[in-house]
Order: sequence, then C-alpha cells, then structure tokens
Amino acid sequence: MVIETARLILRNYSMEDFDAIFEILSDEETMQHYPKPYDEEMTRQWIEWNIQNYQEYGFGIWAVILKETREFIGDCGLTIQTIDGELLPEIGYHIHKKYWKKGFGSEAAKAVRDWAFENTIYDSLYSYMKYTNIGSYSTAIAAGMKKVKEYPDENNKISYVYAITREEWNKLKQ
Ligand SMILES: CC(C)(COP(=O)(O)OP(=O)(O)OC[C@H]1O[C@@H](n2cnc3c(N)ncnc32)[C@H](O)[C@@H]1OP(=O)(O)O)[C@@H](O)C(=O)NCCC(=O)NCCS
Repeated sequence: MVIETARLILRNYSMEDFDAIFEILSDEETMQHYPKPYDEEMTRQWIEWNIQNYQEYGFGIWAVILKETREFIGDCGLTIQTIDGELLPEIGYHIHKKYWKKGFGSEAAKAVRDWAFENTIYDSLYSYMKYTNIGSYSTAIAAGMKKVKEYPDENNKISYVYAITREEWNKLKQ
C-alpha cells in the first residue's frame, strides 16, 4: 500500500522501521498524553499489530516518509478502535517532534481520510484523544473533523471524539 501526497509517502510498516518509530514512541514529550512511553517490546508489538491489520482489514497505520529525504518521520493510518464501547474506524498519527507544526500531521491525516472514503464503505471516520491533546485534536480539525462527543475514559480521564461524515467530505471536495 502506498499513498503519495505533496511532501509525503505513506507505505506499509516493516520491522526495519523499528529504530525510527522507537525513537518517537519512547519519547516522553511525544507520549505525554499516553499512559506511558513505549518500551522496545511495546514498539515491536505496535509494528506487528499494524502488519497484521494490513492482512486482516486491508489497512492499518502506515509509515510516513518525507519524500525529499526518504526519512521516516512518523506514522498515520486507519485502525478499528473501541470508542466509548463502539468499534469505529479511527485515523491515528504520530510525527517526530522535530517535525511538529509543519503541517505533516494534517497532510498525512487528510490523505488517510481520502483513502478511507475512496476505498472503504465507512460513512464516518473518527479520531479520538485525551482531552489535553491539543495537537491531536487540532490535527483532526485540520482534516475536516468536528467534535461529536466527550466521554469518561479510564485511560484518558476524558476522551474527545472527532468525526467527519462521507457527506461532509463530499462537500469539502467541491
Ligand atoms: C498530533 C501530531 C501528529 C500533529 O502533528 P503535526 O505534524 O505537528 O501537525 P500539523 O503541523 O499538521 O498541525 C495540525 C494543526 O494542529 C496544530 N498543532 C499541532 N501541534 C500543536 C500543539 N502542540 N499545540 C497546539 N496546536 C498544535 C497546528 O498548529 C495545526 O493547526 P492549524 O491547522 O490551525 O494550522 C503531533 O503533535 C504528535 O505526534 N503528537 C504526539 C503523538 C500523539 O499524541 N498522537 C495522537 C494520539 S491521539
């Protein structure tokens, strides 16, 4: 699977990406809205889970590569998540902190959104995050999503749910 945007390539993960994604997922600042940063075992499982998702669903979280330098700068993609008790298609993302606020997160999220509406039958796509994760919900808003729910969540205290419907996406494209 390969998605291309103006500046990025999204492609399947392989175990060769371990060092690059470990640098991101083990970083305390990057993972400040998670229960804790990932250790090596959690990172290996993260890659394996995504590779398994490609086989099971035809999608997962993909590696995000900077076209200009071929550098791995993060990941972004679609997974099925339990959000307030419902199984829903969710767009998720992590970008290396040295590349934050340059528009890469939203460029990747928009590409995943477009891919999902073009290649799946889902009528809504979601992103959810801890209520304190401003970068994450700002990225969801940049991808055309609106807040649809807040709920108490044992991991996040309060989770925010953002969503975009197929109808809203069709209007965005016009
Ligand atoms: C969320 C994340 C992927 C955003 O990546 P990014 O490349 O910085 O995103 P963008 O540059 O496309 O920014 C998108 C919007 O969010 C805003 N934003 C990004 N980080 C922000 C922050 N820390 N505080 C406030 N706004 C922020 C940007 O200003 C931009 O707003 P705009 O569209 O109004 O200009 C990145 O912050 C990250 O990796 N965070 C840690 C991992 C994480 O928490 N992932 C989400 C789990 S739910």
